[in-house]
Amino acid sequence: MRLTTILPILTSTLATASTLNVTVLGAQNNASTLECWALEPGFTTSSEAGTSGSKSLNLGPLGGKNAGNSTYTIIPAKFDGGRHNAPLKQWIIFMSGLANITLPNSTTSALVQGGKNGAILALDTADVSSLGHVTKYPSNESTIVLEIPLGEEGIPGHTVLHSGACGGAELLE
Ligand SMILES: *[C@@H]1O[C@H](CO)[C@@H](O)[C@H](O)[C@H]1NC(C)=O
Ligand SMILES: *[C@@H]1O[C@H](CO)[C@@H](O)[C@H](O)[C@H]1NC(C)=O
Ligand SMILES: *[C@@H]1O[C@H](CO)[C@@H](O)[C@H](O)[C@H]1NC(C)=O
Ligand SMILES: *[C@@H]1O[C@H](CO)[C@@H](O)[C@H](O)[C@H]1NC(C)=O
Ligand SMILES: *[C@@H]1O[C@H](CO)[C@@H](O)[C@H](O)[C@H]1NC(C)=O
Ligand SMILES: *[C@@H]1O[C@H](CO)[C@@H](O)[C@H](O)[C@H]1NC(C)=O
Repeated sequence: MRLTTILPILTSTLATASTLNVTVLGAQNNASTLECWALEPGFTTSSEAGTSGSKSLNLGPLGGKNAGNSTYTIIPAKFDGGRHNAPLKQWIIFMSGLANITLPNSTTSALVQGGKNGAILALDTADVSSLGHVTKYPSNESTIVLEIPLGEEGIPGHTVLHSGACGGAELLE
């Protein structure tokens, strides 16, 4: 096969091979759940000046005037966030520290390290989950978290990979 025939096949395979996988705090039967989602469509190759050639994912228009405020929070080391619901459907981006998320009346939990695999979706608002979830921050450094409400497009396209948090090869190296 000629290289010009192979190249488009190669690039389309690369583009579909990798999805951003995120842990999701969802809800079912009035209780919070933890799932691992592959966001669809997956990464594409950026052609934007400044990041050209990098893997990139369009997150749509987040936030906006009617979506609610975004916040940047510095959570102290060893903080106990207690039991609560997501105030609204939002991205939670842990930039440092460690979050230990557990579900009431369940042994399911997620340990989310701040950094490149620190983005999760929190969708368990009080209207869909009566008890919410419990978050503790066990590390001895502060946990920096950026909370960004979903935009008008709502919950991103996805396939559910499995119940429970994402881990292992599902995360970025
Ligand atoms: C967003 O922040 C502004 C300024 O503090 C405040 O007036 C407004 O009520 C907030 N909006 C929501 C939805 O909390
Ligand atoms: C996370 O919380 C669970 C439940 O409280 C606990 O058993 C587990 O040891 C915690 N993990 C870490 C790393 O703190
Ligand atoms: C479920 O969790 C809630 C909140 O922690 C608690 O009040 C309740 O007793 C638990 N129910 C059972 C059956 O363990
Ligand atoms: C969820 O559970 C709470 C507490 O038991 C109850 O008040 C509420 O009506 C339930 N909501 C739904 C949608 O079933
Ligand atoms: C965090 O805890 C570890 C072990 O308990 C300790 O070695 C380290 O110095 C601590 N780091 C900070 C910034 O306190
Ligand atoms: C996400 O998970 C899928 C399925 O396990 C895997 O093929 C893909 O490489 C993962 N993405 C990343 C960035 O690791």
